[in-house]
Amino acid sequence: MRRLDDPRALAGQRVLVRSDLNVPLSEDGRITDAGRIRASAPTIRALAEAGATVIVMAHLGRPKGTPDPRYSLAPVVPALSKAIGRVVHFETGPLEDTAKVEQAVAGLQPGEVLLLENLRFHPGETSKDDAERLAFARQLASLADAFVSDGFGVVHRKQASVYDIATLLPSYAGGLVAREVEVCDRLLKNPEHPYAVVLGGSKVSDKLGVIANLLSRADTLVIGGGMVYTFLAAQGHRVGKSLLEEDQIETVRGYLRQAESSGVQIVLPTDIVMAASFAADAEHWVVPADALETTPAGAEALGLDIGPESAQRFANVIAEARTVFWNGPMGVFEFPAFAQGTRAVANALTSHGTDRLTVVGGGDSAAAVRALGFDDDQFGHISTGGGASLEYLEGKTLPGLDVLKERA
Ligand code: 3PG
Ligand code: MG
Repeated sequence: MRRLDDPRALAGQRVLVRSDLNVPLSEDGRITDAGRIRASAPTIRALAEAGATVIVMAHLGRPKGTPDPRYSLAPVVPALSKAIGRVVHFETGPLEDTAKVEQAVAGLQPGEVLLLENLRFHPGETSKDDAERLAFARQLASLADAFVSDGFGVVHRKQASVYDIATLLPSYAGGLVAREVEVCDRLLKNPEHPYAVVLGGSKVSDKLGVIANLLSRADTLVIGGGMVYTFLAAQGHRVGKSLLEEDQIETVRGYLRQAESSGVQIVLPTDIVMAASFAADAEHWVVPADALETTPAGAEALGLDIGPESAQRFANVIAEARTVFWNGPMGVFEFPAFAQGTRAVANALTSHGTDRLTVVGGGDSAAAVRALGFDDDQFGHISTGGGASLEYLEGKTLPGLDVLKERA
């Protein structure tokens, strides 16, 4: 992969930077977690400081290839400006108005930064049609002399500003992408042992690839969150109204057998917080994992968090590990009554020294730890890409990374 080790190499040039500024917004348009903006700032700042003219490209949400004010990048402008300590010019016009965009770019001085409006307002960005994507990429490429790929959160997408553009301009991996790849490589290729992989979140089906690929590398696989009920069901337990992917039960049984025969320990919760309903103030009870339907709510109850005994056990496993990869909350952490499991895992990750590798994978898990009051610096690495880091750890080829290799 060709890396941008010294931004001064691009001094005096016009540089397109693909960043992932896809941050969560509240109903009234406030940024609720600016992690991705902070993580994207160093590359943009370094290029500006080195005297490049920086044109930042990004997306927000999933608009359908047409301008939609709900997905404007406008709220990101002040936050990005603050993060890089410079004015950020913003191009609001449609990107197909090439003359207007070119004019905006022509007006920039070296060291200035321009953010283009949401790329996904243009159908060419995410088109499945190669020619349509390439045409849009050509339009973007015409604005600059070089391309820096720094949006790790989107490198698993074969999109115009991620993939096609790198076939058109001299292209480099930015510092964020380089660091993310380095960390993922350590998790895949030479983790220090004991190595614990902690998975949560709602769906087993999202994690199958990563379980399959890490099962042979990790020493311990710790499972919580909504996906755990499919594991408990695979062991023959009744789970009430908890999340359950029936079509995955057989696959999960396969993993349990494979783990046993290969000496990998799979740690499942021994107790669960069952609730009468899915609500912040729902009545709830802690019960053993093999007796989930024994609360007063019977078979109507649903599991919303791992229990305290499990949280302690998970914390112990994490405390002893030299390498930990964590993706997915342990329960419905948005409701304080059901946040204990997720908090316990985050606590254990941050409490046992900095001379080991602790990685939080992904948008949602990252937002969870920040929402619970943890600081980015308390973790070895917080990935900016949930989907991207999972796909990398599954061993998949990511188009946005692969294209940088081909041209090296
Ligand atoms: C994300 O939030 O996962 C990334 O920004 C990628 O967005 P996408 O899943 O809509 O492609
Ligand atoms: Mg996503």
